[in-house]
Amino acid sequence: MKALILAGGKGTRLRPLTYAMAKQLVPVANKPILHYAMDGLYQGGIRDFGIIISPETGEAIKQSLQGWKKDDVRLTFILQDEPAGLAHAVKIAKPYLEDEDFIMYLGDNLINADLGSHIAEFKAKGFDASILLKQVPNPSSFGVAELDETGQVMRLVEKPKDPKSDLALVGVYLFTHRIFDAIDRIKPSWRGELEITDAIQRLIEDSSVVHSRVHTGWWLDTGKKDDLLAANTIVLGDYMNYEVAGEVDAASSLQGDVHVEAGAVVRNSRIQGPVMIGKGCLIENAVIGPYTSIGDGCALKECSVENSVILEGCHIEAVPGRIEESLLGKGCRIIKSPVSQESHKFLLADHSEIQVI
Ligand code: G1P
Repeated sequence: MKALILAGGKGTRLRPLTYAMAKQLVPVANKPILHYAMDGLYQGGIRDFGIIISPETGEAIKQSLQGWKKDDVRLTFILQDEPAGLAHAVKIAKPYLEDEDFIMYLGDNLINADLGSHIAEFKAKGFDASILLKQVPNPSSFGVAELDETGQVMRLVEKPKDPKSDLALVGVYLFTHRIFDAIDRIKPSWRGELEITDAIQRLIEDSSVVHSRVHTGWWLDTGKKDDLLAANTIVLGDYMNYEVAGEVDAASSLQGDVHVEAGAVVRNSRIQGPVMIGKGCLIENAVIGPYTSIGDGCALKECSVENSVILEGCHIEAVPGRIEESLLGKGCRIIKSPVSQESHKFLLADHSEIQVI
């Protein structure tokens, strides 16, 4: 079975971060979201991956996956010129997918599911499609499934204003080649996209066998800042172990699951896990954590940071009060003003957000 990973799109909900990087490459616990998808599929037995990329971020996705690649894996990159929808992406991937069954995975979704058992069931039972559903508090933000009393999928609607259930479509789908014919028969939605939800609805109308499974573990659609912080919290909480490869002095205290990577230095600081400190960081006279990821090469001095994601190369120094629930892109600087006690000075990119006391 092949996998089709969707790693295009504009990531408008995660601006300003996504002005500079693909949403699939934003790190959670210092690892790009996309790599979790690749790992999950690899563990599920997939070795042949087609990756949909966009003109804007395609090169960065390719480069990042070169760092992930394994010897027994084949990667094929497929350029989607315009963000014309998930079903459009499947359509242009047809020469790659041929007539094989495939698993489609949205590269900004994080999920703790056993994809291997999902794939095995699909193969054994001969479904035409299989979808993964998850109960959510805000179904209008997703594709929504209506099931009958036996659990059979009756109807799928993309982002309904008045949802008939709280079961959202998770970004993991299994298909046979029958999906191509269904895609050929749908029209663009109100948002101008060919929706995969509409194509699966076509399969249902054609009496194809569309199976569904309700996912009980966690699922995070990392489209927005709060989702990303939630993902960071869950992933750090679930996967982080105590591991110190860097240097920690005697005046520092480390509690819980703290990961200090090689070349990082921690001096006179209190670290409350789960916390991830990247390579080459300097943490001095600081209080860090819990639930905080600090990217490679950051310097954090005389500051307190919790429940935050700090990307590589940031500098935070002599900041009064606590920084929390914050998301900083690469190379940001937050420092105390050397001249004035009474004014704030900002240099912010478009769509940045600052909350002051
Ligand atoms: C897409 C799908 C939607 C699904 C969601 C999962 O939405 O269209 O049905 O529930 O992914 O992440 P989008 O991210 O394009 O708004």
